[in-house]
Amino acid sequence: MKRALSLASHGVGHTRSNPLVGAVIVDTFGVVVGEGFHRRLGGDHAEIGALSAAGERARGGTLILNLEPCCHTGRTGPCTRAIIDAGISRVVIAHRDPDPRVSGKGVAALTDADIELVEGVERVAAEQLNEVYLLFKRLGRPFITVKLALTLDGFTGDEEGHSRWITGPACRRHAHALRARHDAILVGARTARADDPELDVRDAEGPSPQRFVLVGREEVPLQLRMFAGERPALRVGTEAARSDWVVDADADGLPAMKPFLQELVVNDYASLLVEGGPRIAGLFMRQQLVDRIVLYYGPLMIGRGRPALHQFVADLTGAVCLETHTVESLADGFVVAGRPEFK
Ligand SMILES: NC(=O)c1ccc[n+]([C@@H]2O[C@H](COP(=O)([O-])OP(=O)(O)OC[C@H]3O[C@@H](n4cnc5c(N)ncnc54)[C@H](OP(=O)(O)O)[C@@H]3O)[C@@H](O)[C@H]2O)c1
Repeated sequence: MKRALSLASHGVGHTRSNPLVGAVIVDTFGVVVGEGFHRRLGGDHAEIGALSAAGERARGGTLILNLEPCCHTGRTGPCTRAIIDAGISRVVIAHRDPDPRVSGKGVAALTDADIELVEGVERVAAEQLNEVYLLFKRLGRPFITVKLALTLDGFTGDEEGHSRWITGPACRRHAHALRARHDAILVGARTARADDPELDVRDAEGPSPQRFVLVGREEVPLQLRMFAGERPALRVGTEAARSDWVVDADADGLPAMKPFLQELVVNDYASLLVEGGPRIAGLFMRQQLVDRIVLYYGPLMIGRGRPALHQFVADLTGAVCLETHTVESLADGFVVAGRPEFK
């Protein structure tokens, strides 16, 4: 199963609304005869790759994969049929698939065909690996990460609004790797106008997420760098003339977040990285729409400046705490990350 999980992780950044899945087939002597992983949304499922690599050697063997195999025809055919037809005698999974079309039904299809089934192996590690997919299926919205760069004393920029560069190259490389693990990336209109960010992955390996900008009352000029390249940024707004995605307005007449998130779901974007600024970060925090916070601290203090989260206030008893946070030290700063616990 550890090998299956390691194979599955090669799909990070590519499988979008599909899960990360790896599969290993061992024959009756315990020899690995086939391996596979789900490479991208719409591509072959992991077990199909492993079965075709194993061929006849799969007969009587054991298939180990981290997720319950599917039993329906979606973008590809049902995997349970392929497993039964290949003559596999035992299937080991880490956990079931929360997708209602599959949940429990994939397992039942196998046991009905007299295939021995073992489940729960490396469950915690497997659920951790697929945290985006599991949340996407259970809550019906993307997994949302809020990322900010801060001074040691907690400011996103000085009082004039200058925020480049609080962090250095090592933090930027780390942040680009974070981008590569997300399907979509979002900034507010003011960040777009002030910083003209490219929002792509340049300093790390991996695919660039689809870029989005939240359009408010003022123009977001199309000459900005985020609108260049093969997949230009999409404008999310309330008016068709100034938006690529039109969503309902909130009470202030600005684009509301829930319809935007719904539109992301419909378009198979399972994870969203919110890269500021403080107004947009505060908005997601106030609506408790944050699954992970990643804070990059540069080793500097400025005493006065712009706070990280606009209009987000809590006293110590109502503070949002980070569950199981991690602290990583980099050459030019450090990274604090964790899941916010909303009261
Ligand atoms: N240190 C960091 O990590 C970091 C990261 C990003 C940005 N920054 C800095 O932060 C500053 C910009 O941040 P900011 O907080 O002023 O603005 P922002 O969060 O980047 O953008 C806010 C703007 O987005 C538009 N908007 C659309 N829908 C909205 C909604 N539902 N709720 C709120 N706003 C909505 C509005 O545009 P209109 O104004 O057109 O109405 C609003 O003014 C810049 O100085 C930038 O350099 C720092």
